[in-house]
Amino acid sequence: MKPVFQTALGQIHEGDCLEVMRGMSDETVDLAFADPPFNLGKDYSSGINDNLSDEAYVSWCHRWLNEMVRVLKPGGSLFVWNIPKWNVHLAAHLNSHMTFRHWISVDIKYSLPIRGRLYPSHYSLLYYVKGSKPSSFHPDRIPTPCCRHCGGELRDYGGYKDKMNPLGVNLSDVWTDIPPVRHAKYKKRDANALSLKLMDRIVNMASDPGDLVFDPFGGSGTTYIAAELNGRRWVGSELDCQTIIARFKDLDGDKIHLEDIHKNKNVLFTKADLLHRKKSGIPLPSAYRVNGEVDDECACNTDTGVAAIA
Ligand SMILES: C[S@@+](CC[C@H](N)C(=O)[O-])C[C@H]1O[C@@H](n2cnc3c(N)ncnc32)[C@H](O)[C@@H]1O
Repeated sequence: MKPVFQTALGQIHEGDCLEVMRGMSDETVDLAFADPPFNLGKDYSSGINDNLSDEAYVSWCHRWLNEMVRVLKPGGSLFVWNIPKWNVHLAAHLNSHMTFRHWISVDIKYSLPIRGRLYPSHYSLLYYVKGSKPSSFHPDRIPTPCCRHCGGELRDYGGYKDKMNPLGVNLSDVWTDIPPVRHAKYKKRDANALSLKLMDRIVNMASDPGDLVFDPFGGSGTTYIAAELNGRRWVGSELDCQTIIARFKDLDGDKIHLEDIHKNKNVLFTKADLLHRKKSGIPLPSAYRVNGEVDDECACNTDTGVAAIA
């Protein structure tokens, strides 16, 4: 199948993902990610039936999962984004083909409270590897959560505050910092679009520059944008590619957004938190760094005289 759109790094195919994957060679992909329809009866511009019987939906998922496992290289990583109801079935299937790494809970409310049920408040992100260990694993470090008003830390680190790694806190398997997609520029975007911050985190955690990233369910193309702007090669499929092509033709908003995401990871405090702390007179730990280097523009460090790490 010929791609409908390509860049120097990637290409998107308009068509059924199973057909596209059948054209892909075994063990060629470094990182595979899937965010399929959730079978919740939603309308998609591609007109798919999102209201299958439970059995039909799970068996369709098994078919594309088998293909994703086949195209992954040994050491390649697979991530599957879905609601817990379906990911328990998909995990059970994957357990016979791959090595389980994590069930990551991403704290986002996605439905209204229902009487007699708990309020659905997390998406499940399955993380598997082909073989025993991943070829790439570089999890982001994240800023310590701070008060939006004064910039003070919200967590008590048991007296070890001053010993905290200036590059941020270890990433856990519960992600509470993924915002819903609400960037002004993206107001009109497909409501199914995932956050660029989420895809940037996955791409950087489980691949290296030049690696090949694959996503069978393109949607608005967030995976491909994260891959392209992080220097990864990428390939994808989608039944209706118009939104993806339009998004690639006007990348400025995504570039600015990604720069901002990169500035606010691998640091212990974001710039905004440093400014809040300065205003409210909260002293800083003895060392900190902003985006990997000392930030001379940030007035906080001159005033508090903290030691900076080169
Ligand atoms: C939940 S959306 C993906 C959103 C995407 N992750 C993003 O951030 O924009 C699922 C997408 O899968 C596409 N899709 C559904 N069935 C498909 C199939 N058999 N082959 C290719 N794409 C399919 C739908 O058209 C829809 O755009």
